Amino acid sequence: MLSTEELVAANALKTIARNEQVKQYVENSMDIYSILKKAAKRFITGETREEGIQKAKELNTKGYPVSLEYIGENTSTEEESWKAKNEMIQLIEDISSEGIDSIISLDLSHIGLAVNEDLAIEHLKEVAEIAKQRGCYLMISMEESTKTDKILSIYKNISTLYDNVGITLQVNLKRSFDDLKDLLQYPGKIRLVKGAYKELPEIMIPRSEELNHRYLQFIQICEEANHPISIATHDEDLLNDIKESSDYFAKANVEIEMLYGIRQDLIKKYKEEGYNSRVYMLYGTEWFLYVCHRVAENPSNIYQFISDMVNPIAAEEEKY
Ligand code: FDA
Repeated sequence: MLSTEELVAANALKTIARNEQVKQYVENSMDIYSILKKAAKRFITGETREEGIQKAKELNTKGYPVSLEYIGENTSTEEESWKAKNEMIQLIEDISSEGIDSIISLDLSHIGLAVNEDLAIEHLKEVAEIAKQRGCYLMISMEESTKTDKILSIYKNISTLYDNVGITLQVNLKRSFDDLKDLLQYPGKIRLVKGAYKELPEIMIPRSEELNHRYLQFIQICEEANHPISIATHDEDLLNDIKESSDYFAKANVEIEMLYGIRQDLIKKYKEEGYNSRVYMLYGTEWFLYVCHRVAENPSNIYQFISDMVNPIAAEEEKY
């Protein structure tokens, strides 16, 4: 668990990450951008689709299926959302033609949710249709709580049309207990995450024993329903607790999923034990918010981040 000082630092970083002015300043300042980019390499595969696909191939070769995301959210114009949708379609075409074992993850606000909800739904249908034709699975990510209702509602509708779409649920939101029961009525895989966004204390449970206990409860509910699930956490103690309570990891519709560059040793251990183990990889230029979140979650990463600015290293892939 984080100390009080670490929690304060983590919250400050998440606030900075959300600040549009800071983001634009970083993106427009070539010097700052290029220094931060060096440090970001630990968490992102690169800025282009080719780099993402290359890393995906490498991890496939090592025996991991992956999840690929063209990183971005909150596009502010319809044109940007079209571009994002087209990039996702091209990604699906490329992984399909190159025989890569990958699902696709996406943020609905990247394909227009914040600009025009109907357009975002159209884009999602188009992406889901191509993905279905190519035998590819889509996972919808979960964003800030102000968007939860819309994202869940869009997921539930698309889920009645396409069986190749799943949804992410943030265990830290108090509402998620009811949402989980509702989501079990739909066929898509549920990816359980603790939750990355800074939310008001009234609606969320911070990192704590209570949150981990709740995560276990969610797992139990999914297990009883025999529902397909991704256990998306790097929390070794929590994973040990899940593993001890039953041989749940061994089930075909259960997988463990971790983010690229984080706890490579742990996901490797699960893969070697024979459990379904997936690595979630991102590419693209919009990595600022994502990287701030990853550093905030583990404040000791700040030291690593600073040294990476001087001596950049990629995600230490040899550890996979
Ligand atoms: P927690 O934050 O409690 O960390 C537990 C331990 O894991 C730490 O003590 C440390 O050892 C290790 N660890 C965690 N983060 C680390 C880091 N950055 N660097 C090094 N070690 C670290 N969130 C969201 O809101 N919406 C979404 O759609 C998604 N999607 C998603 C997909 C996948 C596959 C994963 C794994 C995660 C997400 N997340 C997400 C992020 C998620 O909500 C959460 O913020 C992170 O996974 C970190 O939380 P942990 O469960 O790892 O636990």
